[in-house]
Amino acid sequence: MFNQTRHQKVVLVGDGAVGSSYALLMLQQPVMDELVIVDIAEKHCVGDSLDLEDTQLWSTPKTVRPGTYADASDADLVVITAGVPRQPGETRLDLVNKNLKILRSIVTPVVDSGFSGIFLVAANPVDILTAATQRLSGFPPARVIGSGTSLDTARFKVGLAKRLQVAPQQLEVNIVGEHGDTEFAALHAATLAGRPLLDVIQQRGITNQELIDIEAAARTKGGKIIGLKGATFYGVATCLARISRAVLANENAVLPVGAYLDGQYHQHGLYLGTPAVINANGIDHILELSLSPEEQEKMAHSAGAVQSVLTAAFA
Ligand code: 2OP
Repeated sequence: MFNQTRHQKVVLVGDGAVGSSYALLMLQQPVMDELVIVDIAEKHCVGDSLDLEDTQLWSTPKTVRPGTYADASDADLVVITAGVPRQPGETRLDLVNKNLKILRSIVTPVVDSGFSGIFLVAANPVDILTAATQRLSGFPPARVIGSGTSLDTARFKVGLAKRLQVAPQQLEVNIVGEHGDTEFAALHAATLAGRPLLDVIQQRGITNQELIDIEAAARTKGGKIIGLKGATFYGVATCLARISRAVLANENAVLPVGAYLDGQYHQHGLYLGTPAVINANGIDHILELSLSPEEQEKMAHSAGAVQSVLTAAFA
């Protein structure tokens, strides 16, 4: 059991498919006492809260209810999933203007409520919207976490684990950079059972091309799922629940997240995916991976892509 001594409260903003999947997962974990759901579709939100209430029979008792931004005043965590989802064929970066407007209408009243906890942002384009949340809130960057490349890392591990026939959680490897087209697998620093992952891959007869294909499949999987079912939600909701647990249970868990770079990877003043230590302070510190020169170039390229959108969005 977690050593949880005080009332832990989460405000979820956005009760769409990602939000309600997240709510369901959080209600199954013993790390939160109260979940307040805020959504412009108020009637749906009341119905969802009632439906979610019935999922707790085999978990620890919790309150789940619809609410308003004022509920953030004493919350530990505000999770933002609200936004227009990516349409088939649309890039995440195309979404920026639509979702920035929505984000402004959320962050301002949350901050006005007196909220002094941690923001966790998943709305896309997530690297831009996480940076925007930090700027709009004026919070220290450590208290604003993005879902970043958590989902991409999960996708890559799942894909590679199938090929290697090991459990995905045994792989010490991260997708880093933008949550999007310029992300990449940081393979230079990756390990399995303490051995360089690239050595294991070579020994198992996996060719370079196969590895490139597995990486590309992780990168394009979101688009593929959207093409097939119109949206993705279980994967990102699981990542959000995992990050939330690390915050609420003060875990010091090492997780891939969207973190504010302040010199790491030679990048400054933007959010990108990287492993970091997550606890009740938010992003306690970044664990900067050792990148090969080629990977450094990929990181610079990814940062450039995000930075140019940030500059345009905040011009
Ligand atoms: C995903 O990658 C749509 O960004 C979302 O699943």
